[in-house]
Amino acid sequence: MSHEDGRSPEDGRSREDVAGRLLGGSVRRSYAPAVDIDWEAPLEEDKWFLPPQMCTLYGTDIWESMSREQQVELSRQELVNLLSMGVWFENLLNRMLLRNLLSADPTSRDSHYSLTEMGDECRHMVMFGRVIDRIGARPFRLRGWQLGVVKYLLPLLIRGDAVWVFALVGEEIFDAQQRKIHQDPQLQPIVARLMQIHVTEEARHIGYARDAAKRGMATRSRRQTFVAGNLHFAAALGFRYLFANPRMYARVGLDPRAAYRAAVTNPNHIAAKHDGFRGLGKFLESVGLMGPIARVAWRRAGFWA
Ligand SMILES: [Fe+2]
Ligand SMILES: [Fe+2]
Repeated sequence: MSHEDGRSPEDGRSREDVAGRLLGGSVRRSYAPAVDIDWEAPLEEDKWFLPPQMCTLYGTDIWESMSREQQVELSRQELVNLLSMGVWFENLLNRMLLRNLLSADPTSRDSHYSLTEMGDECRHMVMFGRVIDRIGARPFRLRGWQLGVVKYLLPLLIRGDAVWVFALVGEEIFDAQQRKIHQDPQLQPIVARLMQIHVTEEARHIGYARDAAKRGMATRSRRQTFVAGNLHFAAALGFRYLFANPRMYARVGLDPRAAYRAAVTNPNHIAAKHDGFRGLGKFLESVGLMGPIARVAWRRAGFWA
């Protein structure tokens, strides 16, 4: 896995150097999904929207009892669930980056890269929404208290270095999964293309956030470290539920509660979550941002061994 776009401040580079490199990378390799995805290509019969082994119920009794058609439909709803989460996560990330910019120097490369990343995320949100529509599905929209949390509560709570932890938690788990599957020949070509575009651009975002989290070690107070290192316990609990969102199962005609229970205890699904979280968990440990509360939460949620 390469984060060639500047992951480490150890080589003496300043934040400006890192931002400058990331800006260069953005100029060399960025995508415009409006033209870089073939929106006219028909869906391919018998291909999956997520590889079956990535589906949350794969290997369970419920999975074995489903028809192949129903399994493919579940893979479509699971993809839509991930893309729907992607849309609101990127919305929230952009709001935080934009807020930070109010007190930043508009002539700095750091500010310019931040804006560039926000542009990437805007195109990703269009791409996610358009792919959901193109594959004939409906998004899972935030509603009720979940909408309240994402719209009002999280922007209030997530400050300082917690912004970078939040960015990494939202980006790295999905990134690790997409890296593993985007070349899988069982995938619908439009999904494989979306993932390839996303993986390329997210590598820079992850490099940018990791660099900031690492750099913060030198300046964070103990209290700030405690907050930034533990607040992400909430993401562990949220992800445990959202990865096995009962609404997906209802859409394919399964009993949502039974399917949810089967998913969160499914050893295949737990192994996939471990794979997705391993790199991030190690990184957070290494920069002192895996606090005791967060560690227990990620373990209980089935992401961390
Ligand atoms: Fe993105
Ligand atoms: Fe991103």
